[in-house]
Amino acid sequence: MASKTVLIGGGTGFIGKRLGEILHKNKYNVLNVSRMPSANSITWTTVETGLPEQTHAVVNVAGQQTMDFTRSWTPGFKQNVKNSRVFTTRALATAINKSSGKPKVYVVVTGVGAYEPSETNKYDETSPTTGKDFFSKLLVEWEEAAKVDPPVRLVIIRSGVVLGRDGGMIKNMILPFFFGLGGPIGSGKQYLPWIHIEDLTRLITFAIENENVNGILNGVAPHVITNGEFTQAFAKALSRPAFLPVPEFVLNFLLHEERAMLMTKGQHVTPKRVLDYGFKYKYDKIDEACMEFAHLFPKK
Ligand SMILES: NC(=O)c1ccc[n+]([C@@H]2O[C@H](COP(=O)([O-])OP(=O)(O)OC[C@H]3O[C@@H](n4cnc5c(N)ncnc54)[C@H](OP(=O)(O)O)[C@@H]3O)[C@@H](O)[C@H]2O)c1
Repeated sequence: MASKTVLIGGGTGFIGKRLGEILHKNKYNVLNVSRMPSANSITWTTVETGLPEQTHAVVNVAGQQTMDFTRSWTPGFKQNVKNSRVFTTRALATAINKSSGKPKVYVVVTGVGAYEPSETNKYDETSPTTGKDFFSKLLVEWEEAAKVDPPVRLVIIRSGVVLGRDGGMIKNMILPFFFGLGGPIGSGKQYLPWIHIEDLTRLITFAIENENVNGILNGVAPHVITNGEFTQAFAKALSRPAFLPVPEFVLNFLLHEERAMLMTKGQHVTPKRVLDYGFKYKYDKIDEACMEFAHLFPKK
């Protein structure tokens, strides 16, 4: 039997690459959508003409990195952050709606920024999204752009910070922490919704393979932690102290308050629907997760 094709928008990135490896191991044929054509990538212009034949599932994990510290938070950069998510998500949804041989499912990874940052509110997938700040407004447009016509299932995974050695927050933090220069951000009391990269990619695969899964899923570990608790767990896994707090005003100054809020503020988010579906986490506790990626050099 020919293997099933999964098309991944942004398949060259931190999440997309790992997802591609797992799917490949599970005998799927993986094709990326990238700005750069290559042997196993098609371009966004090609997607405008439709989906490749026999596409079984479509996933979107494309998006300009928000925490690219080399880029100032200018109106142009904000537009890029937004369009790279909304336009790519819409381009794949349009291609799915136009296609004659429909894929079974469209999985889009968005973020917990959909929920208003708070130290008191508690959110699960049934909680309303408020759309007040830049990120929650972006989330509303992003998820709206994902709409596909039935019978294609739509699964939107609102991911917390994705933790893994090769990208995202850990790649940025490991050096300072390794040299004992780590510490909590601001008061450290803000919640830090998180998920290990293995679990996020397993959850995407779970959504592809289980026909009863649809709608919003919170892509977070069930263990709710604060930034201060994360700092302690990561420093402990690296056997380093982490006493140097990063003041909130410094981040606001360096990154711009609107962007710095991704680090200085947080949300208490639980994965109620994910657990109801029976998904089993590999890393449901932050200490175990940190032990997996707290190493400076690649593991043999
Ligand atoms: N990492 C996290 O902690 C996290 C948490 C929550 C949500 N997410 C969401 O998950 C998605 C992927 O995150 P990631 O960490 O894997 O990001 P990443 O490593 O930066 O990769 C994203 C991919 O998106 C493509 N891309 C970048 N800029 C683009 C642009 N202007 N237009 C079109 N495509 C562009 C790139 O692929 P090509 O160069 O091949 O085009 C890149 O490989 C993002 O939408 C992000 O918001 C991530």
